[in-house]
Amino acid sequence: MGLRILGWGSALPEKVVTNHDLEKTLDTSDEWIRERSGIGERRIGESTAELAIAAGRAALERSGVEPASVDLMVLATTTPDQQVPASSAHVHYELGLGGGACDLNAACSGFVYALVMANGLLESGANRVLVVGAETLSRITDWSDRNTAVLFGDGGGALVLEREAGEGQLLGWDLGVDASAREILECDIGGFIRMDGREVFKRAVRVLVDSAKRTLAQAKVRPEDVKLLVPHQANIRIIQAACDRLGIPEERTALVLHRTGNTSSASIPLALVDAIEAGRLEDGDLVLMTGFGAGMTWGSALLRWQSPPSASGASA
Ligand code: COA
Repeated sequence: MGLRILGWGSALPEKVVTNHDLEKTLDTSDEWIRERSGIGERRIGESTAELAIAAGRAALERSGVEPASVDLMVLATTTPDQQVPASSAHVHYELGLGGGACDLNAACSGFVYALVMANGLLESGANRVLVVGAETLSRITDWSDRNTAVLFGDGGGALVLEREAGEGQLLGWDLGVDASAREILECDIGGFIRMDGREVFKRAVRVLVDSAKRTLAQAKVRPEDVKLLVPHQANIRIIQAACDRLGIPEERTALVLHRTGNTSSASIPLALVDAIEAGRLEDGDLVLMTGFGAGMTWGSALLRWQSPPSASGASA
């Protein structure tokens, strides 16, 4: 048993904050931000649950799946709306889902963690799982700190997954955490993100590349056979360095960073959905998602793309 993807969706807040907007309050420049990070603008606003609901609803509609037939919804987020209850409870209620719901926090690797866990659940008997990555990092960003304020944004992305007989679309995965590096990127409850950017950068490239290689080796796939790399959208230079070391051309990456900034758990599904909707995937294509984040966590997942049956043909 394995997973197949039946639907996808994403959501971004309406409010756009450009680098030029940030120039007005911070000692920074559009040129610096673009050169050092690749970010041109980010979206800000709404709550984590609202973004998750919008992305989840779009994914459910696309899939044709009856919300009540979902067995579990996992919301990957580092920015829940409240400490208690989990934001996933709100999402579950608004979408009219069946089954259970829980939040998962593995920082920016969260969506890949959720996907891998969903796969395990489908293998062990669940029929349908909704995985969502949604964040409102703007709420934990110190807008007077130029080291972090230029990097982060809000958004959400979702996939509807169904149990499939056979190998399924997930061919390999790798999850990890190295908490000896937990102090290089952190945020206290009620506080703001603190980050040693250079150290995060250095380690990020290393863990992305190692995790991607382990995943490819597990599935016996060569880097040159990867059609689309969907990396965590943190910094274009991290992505370029990882592409270089993996031997995957940059043109084969899914990128939304320039218009979203770093949206943590939402970044990989936002980039994946963007690529799907741009028609960049054909049946049989290999898609490698790879992320890293605070903890430091990392996670990679290799998928074989398969277009889902039309929404009307999908089982309810
Ligand atoms: N505008 C202008 N100057 C800035 C700035 C900004 N927004 N932020 C930092 N600077 C300055 C620094 O103060 C430093 O000045 P100094 O040399 O006088 O001390 C200079 O620019 C260079 O800083 P440095 O940290 O070396 O820049 P960098 O090339 O490493 O880029 C980051 C900084 C943060 C963009 C980069 O390190 C990065 O992206 N790191 C990873 C962060 C990340 O991915 N976090 C999320 C993980 S999920």
